[in-house]
Amino acid sequence: MNLQALFASEPDRLTRLGFRVGLLHADFSKQRLSVAALDQALAASASLHLSIARLFGGAVVNPSEGRAALHTALRVPFAQVHSTPMTEAAFAARERMLGYTEQLRAGKLLGATGKPINTLVNVGIGGSDLGPRLLVNALRHLDPHGPRIENLNNVDGHAANALLPTLDPETTAIAYVSKSFTTVETKLNLKLLRDWLTAKLGTDAALWRHFCVVTAKRELAHALDVPAAQIFPMFDWVGGRYSVWSAVGLSVAAAIGREDFMALLAGAHEMDAHFASAPLARNLPVVAALVELDQRTRHPARAVIPYDYRLGLLPEYLQQLEMESNGKSVQLDGSPVDQATNALVFGAVGTNAQHAFFQQLHQGTDIVPVEFIGVIEPDHPFAENHRVLLANMLAQGAALMRGKSLAEVKAELIDAGLDEAQVRQLGPHRVFPGNRPSTTLLLDRLNGRALGNLLAYYEHKVYAAGALLNINSFDQWGVELGKALAAQILPALSAGADLDGHDPSTQALIRLIRR
Ligand code: F6P
Repeated sequence: MNLQALFASEPDRLTRLGFRVGLLHADFSKQRLSVAALDQALAASASLHLSIARLFGGAVVNPSEGRAALHTALRVPFAQVHSTPMTEAAFAARERMLGYTEQLRAGKLLGATGKPINTLVNVGIGGSDLGPRLLVNALRHLDPHGPRIENLNNVDGHAANALLPTLDPETTAIAYVSKSFTTVETKLNLKLLRDWLTAKLGTDAALWRHFCVVTAKRELAHALDVPAAQIFPMFDWVGGRYSVWSAVGLSVAAAIGREDFMALLAGAHEMDAHFASAPLARNLPVVAALVELDQRTRHPARAVIPYDYRLGLLPEYLQQLEMESNGKSVQLDGSPVDQATNALVFGAVGTNAQHAFFQQLHQGTDIVPVEFIGVIEPDHPFAENHRVLLANMLAQGAALMRGKSLAEVKAELIDAGLDEAQVRQLGPHRVFPGNRPSTTLLLDRLNGRALGNLLAYYEHKVYAAGALLNINSFDQWGVELGKALAAQILPALSAGADLDGHDPSTQALIRLIRR
């Protein structure tokens, strides 16, 4: 479907494909789906209502693990009349977590030597890292003088080696965040930090003052010798990649404070209310899911390009949210899916991405749909920079859509005084095929509410797409095989260990590494 033709044939295209929820505006008008085709898809998706009700109602939407997915309960305002055991538990956990972070922010959390803690290291990976890290980076400007927040996610010792010399052991606290409490990387990094603190402060020091734990396995956490008041729960009914709204957001609350953390939850709740109640045709996550599934029938990837430096981690965050949720090949009953499921997600901030991989987006042989994310009001005084940034974002979407024909290129070259031979030779290189789709998301400004709107939008888009594909968006069995093999390979890396049982290719690589 030709985009220019769609605009000509559909006078209400912009209003039908433009949305606003809270501080988030979404524009799908540069997508190649016609409004008529969207209406057809909507008509065929009427049962989505039931799927949405099942999500909010706490039904087992994750049957392979026998779990509900009630991340929406984490952001229900406490005053709401219809509280449930989940919203009560979420509220109690949040109040304890916020109490702890308020102490930290007020300089009242003292380390083993009596000095106030002023630095918090979030130790976690995947959902126990990406959400908090994205949010701290995105919202740091709300309190630039708040506590210093660092992260240790990777088991690669270079990460710890670079971080440790920058930390003062007397004033550093560690937030150990792991839903399962068994993630090897996180456990190892915790041990490394404990050893470091012990070496610096001594074995007799009250080291427990430097630790707090966020986990769904409270019973295991007690073994760490951390007081119960510093252990905060995660819940079985919230998946790791959906958990930043819980105590997993501890480092976020430490960075920005209670009020802005609550604004974040309120923004997410605003999107929840929209997703739960808007008619499907005006339901932003539903329409986004339909648009993307249509796009996925032709294109295997999607580029996410935030035109805001502070959202630089968004592509990485979405890689987990979308690819771990919907990167599946079987339906809920275990039978194979009959269509392509999730697109590969990649991206980087604009305008940097323009100077790196946009060449291929404009002229490569594959069409890659692009998602642009911009912020209307900046939080800096450099107005000209901001205008140039947004002009670039709009220009990229327009260029992908319009393209530039050979006739236009030739006319331009002739105008520039090139002769016929030069025009013939250069012309094809300067053609842009165009008709390449994009979505534009705009936030009024980057604050807690807006980011809550945005991330909850993505969560619900993922769920709507998963429901339409009839897959389980809340399990992640695909990460298990590699974990099990890593455990088997680990002993084989020691000199002299038996290599039997490993495939010849892996054996050869082990030999190279062992030398
Ligand atoms: O291995 C994948 C995964 O289970 C993610 O789903 C999760 O967010 C991450 O590991 C970390 O898990 P945990 O919080 O249990 O340490």
